[in-house]
Amino acid sequence: MTEPVKVHLGSGPHLMPGWINVDYEADFKPEVVADLTQRFPFDDASVDYIHSEGVLCQFDLPAGEHFLNECFRILKPGGYMRLLTPDLRRLLSAYLDDAERGENQLAALWQREVEIPLKLKTSAEVINIGIRNLHKFMYDSPTLMKLLDESGFQSQEVGYQQSSVAALSGLDVRTPENATYMYFECGKPVDA
Ligand SMILES: C[S@@+](CC[C@H](N)C(=O)[O-])C[C@H]1O[C@@H](n2cnc3c(N)ncnc32)[C@H](O)[C@@H]1O
Repeated sequence: MTEPVKVHLGSGPHLMPGWINVDYEADFKPEVVADLTQRFPFDDASVDYIHSEGVLCQFDLPAGEHFLNECFRILKPGGYMRLLTPDLRRLLSAYLDDAERGENQLAALWQREVEIPLKLKTSAEVINIGIRNLHKFMYDSPTLMKLLDESGFQSQEVGYQQSSVAALSGLDVRTPENATYMYFECGKPVDA
């Protein structure tokens, strides 16, 4: 039996053994150096599984739509993608909690997990950098579901490290405690 083709999009330094790691930064030494805002260097319906964490948020909405359309194109019918991206609702809710309590827990989390230094070390600064500089488009669950649906995927929000697909389980880098991420499992219908 042939091995499934597994593609890890926007690997960064987290190269996954047994996967084709893809990034546009050659310094990370991925198997494939490619700009994911362009046509992906994979044939139609040639990939069994895709994993991507923290990459969709790097793109504005049109580039994000292109990214999802390309993921759909390269997946085989019946294939699955695991997609992880920051959750706008969780981020804003953490900010509002801080504002109400006069705390800066979100800023503390940022300082533990993100290399970009804060000047004022407040949660309002995190919101500004997170939305205006670090990320180009931040999704909440309904917005991402809508875009996934438009790209042809059948998707559901799942939990950290949870997947109905063995190949996609246990891959997540960020825990719910150290990030405000959401986790999606996206299938390409068998008749697509
Ligand atoms: C926040 S990092 C996430 C890295 C890794 N997936 C993780 O979870 O730690 C985003 C990654 O996306 C890559 N990236 C951003 N824009 C890209 C593009 N247009 N084409 C390919 N890779 C891109 C960056 O080089 C970086 O490695």
